[in-house]
Amino acid sequence: MKLSGKKVLIGVTGGIAAYKIPILVRELIKEGAQVQVILTPDAQAFVTPLTLATVSNNPVHTAFFNKTTGEWDSHIHLALWADIFLIAPATANTLAKMAHGLADNLLLAVYLSARCKCVVAPAMDLDMLKHPSTEKNIRTLEKQGVEIIPSETGFLASGLIGEGRMPEPETLCKYIIETLNPPSILSNQSWVVTAGPTFESIDPVRFIGNHSSGKMGIAIAEALATKGAQVILICGPSSVPHRHQGGIQRIDITSADEMLEAVESHFDKADGVIMAAAVADYKPKISHNEKLKKSGKNLILELTPNPDILSRMGEKKNDHQLVIGFALESSNGINHAKEKLKKKNLDAIILNSLEDDGAGFGGDTNRITIIDKEEEIITFPLKSKADVANDIISFIESVFYKKIS
Ligand code: C5P
Repeated sequence: MKLSGKKVLIGVTGGIAAYKIPILVRELIKEGAQVQVILTPDAQAFVTPLTLATVSNNPVHTAFFNKTTGEWDSHIHLALWADIFLIAPATANTLAKMAHGLADNLLLAVYLSARCKCVVAPAMDLDMLKHPSTEKNIRTLEKQGVEIIPSETGFLASGLIGEGRMPEPETLCKYIIETLNPPSILSNQSWVVTAGPTFESIDPVRFIGNHSSGKMGIAIAEALATKGAQVILICGPSSVPHRHQGGIQRIDITSADEMLEAVESHFDKADGVIMAAAVADYKPKISHNEKLKKSGKNLILELTPNPDILSRMGEKKNDHQLVIGFALESSNGINHAKEKLKKKNLDAIILNSLEDDGAGFGGDTNRITIIDKEEEIITFPLKSKADVANDIISFIESVFYKKIS
């Protein structure tokens, strides 16, 4: 999902193309965005608040305050909430008011308060669009930093044919995705990500495993692929599917030995590796070919250490490669994580603590602390695993940008 965690505010004005906005909202939601909608009074004649509230899963904003209760709908909060403010369709009237700083409805007041990027999709009849006043207003808005999505040419609601159509919802959605995901230094890089548990065989039926779901590593692989990286996802037994079929090559493995083999065969060509897998530290010394029989007596299993895949990659890595590990700690996390960072020669370690509610295995949320090579510590609040993955990717981008600057 390319808009995971992104907040999109849509301002709808009173043009016929408003009937396409519910479809746009659905497209944005499918990409993981949070969406809120403002309707001008005239827009409500073309599309209802009920429709848009239903598809956006949020109340729709129509006025500065509720006339019955007097409850204030803060334009300031709405403006500051948004990562992007799209005004679509934008009528000639709204463009003119925006260009001149009028604020006689909620949409316009939000526009004047917005700090985020504002994008406008003018939609009107061809002669209105080409009128010198409209053209001048569009140029004024461009000078103020507003991005204009050009109107398309085609069949207009008036029956005329010409320029003035609002681009289709799919085009607007793509535009928002590209604006909120500018080209990344990670695009076209190769990354290896490990995820999930490993199962260490006792006999053909039984194994030693752990409760890792694979969700965190898979979210990281997806976030890297969203940035345009080619990802090798080496995943222990996990039922969690991954998106971005094109950008992610998934290699399903079972044991730590298999994971090591897969990581080693892809490491040399990689720009970096992130090891989010919960690799079993030990495996049975003997993996029996036949199912062990119940004897009624104590059974002693001799365990032998698994290879530490992360340490091996830390030893092997060259100057341009980044090796990043995870540390799941139950106490004194920062100190233990710092020790691992040094001992395994990592570029960074991501700590999650079993002491934190909502962090660690299985769930959909995590709370991480990133410690880098210089032992700089960045702490993050509890977030969805998708948002945590985005934070990790932003951190990695900043490391690469530092390297080249
Ligand atoms: O030392 P510890 O097991 O706590 O380190 C956790 C980190 O090391 C994780 O990134 C995990 O994926 C990795 N690891 C590994 N091979 C092991 C054990 C852990 O790559 N055998």
